[in-house]
Amino acid sequence: MNIPVLRTVGEIRNLVRSWKQDGLRVGLVPTMGYLHQGHLALVQHGLRFCDRIVMSIFVNPTQFGPNEDFDRYPRDEHGDRAKAEEAGVSALFCPYLNEMYPAGAETYVSLDRLPHHLCGPLRPGHFRGVATICTKLFVAVEPDVAVFGEKDYQQAVIIKRLALDLLLPTRIETAPIVRESDGLAMSSRNVYLAPDERRRALCIVQALDQAELSVKRGEYDVRKIRLQIMALLNSANFQVDYVDFVHPDTLENEESIGSPTIVAIAGFIGKTRLIDNRLLIPPNPTDDQKRVW
Ligand code: PAF
Repeated sequence: MNIPVLRTVGEIRNLVRSWKQDGLRVGLVPTMGYLHQGHLALVQHGLRFCDRIVMSIFVNPTQFGPNEDFDRYPRDEHGDRAKAEEAGVSALFCPYLNEMYPAGAETYVSLDRLPHHLCGPLRPGHFRGVATICTKLFVAVEPDVAVFGEKDYQQAVIIKRLALDLLLPTRIETAPIVRESDGLAMSSRNVYLAPDERRRALCIVQALDQAELSVKRGEYDVRKIRLQIMALLNSANFQVDYVDFVHPDTLENEESIGSPTIVAIAGFIGKTRLIDNRLLIPPNPTDDQKRVW
């Protein structure tokens, strides 16, 4: 049995409403397709809270900059359908472009502060595109829960904020980063990496491990930890966009690891942009400091 693939807002809304009338809880896993284990883990996470999972697959043009990889972003709807079904997805929502952006569309969702950190300044308009499409998906699908991965940490914080600010009835859940056996964070963009680049990309997780180790050993000075990390990244010829240490909720820069802090890394291996992050927890934090989002 093949799961249904719905293309219009009317179709997905009718299906979800019929499930809800039967008393079922519905989760949404928004994706841009080319599914890997990371996406499938989001489905598993959603199934902890929901009876039915809708997965959306939509390569959203408004979140790509003019020089980014919208055209060459990997696509495989046929393969995705089989993987999604196997993982327990009940329906795919693969909308037509003009369903999500009707002719003449001019309404966008943007946040004031959160997009000014980390990837925001380097990808102007990206988070406006993400916030807009996710809001539209929430309006179209009307899920009880929506699940996002923690690899795109800034995205997850932004979606949580917008759901709160716009009084959306959808609860936002996040699921931990899924890694390849050698530690590389799973990403649809990993397919772009040539074998040598794939090997060099491991410097990112090694840098995160190094940061964690330094904090465990009592080094809280962000400048010193950044220097160690930069040495590692430079030796793998990783072109660093940023190595930032930020507050887990506000994404404001931290100067020392006095409380749980996110270290986030972004940059290029060749032409492929990769991101990753880790929560750093100083030893013996107070109960308040142990709070993680
Ligand atoms: O993380 C992604 O794949 C995309 O940014 C999302 C959330 C599906 C919005 O297009």
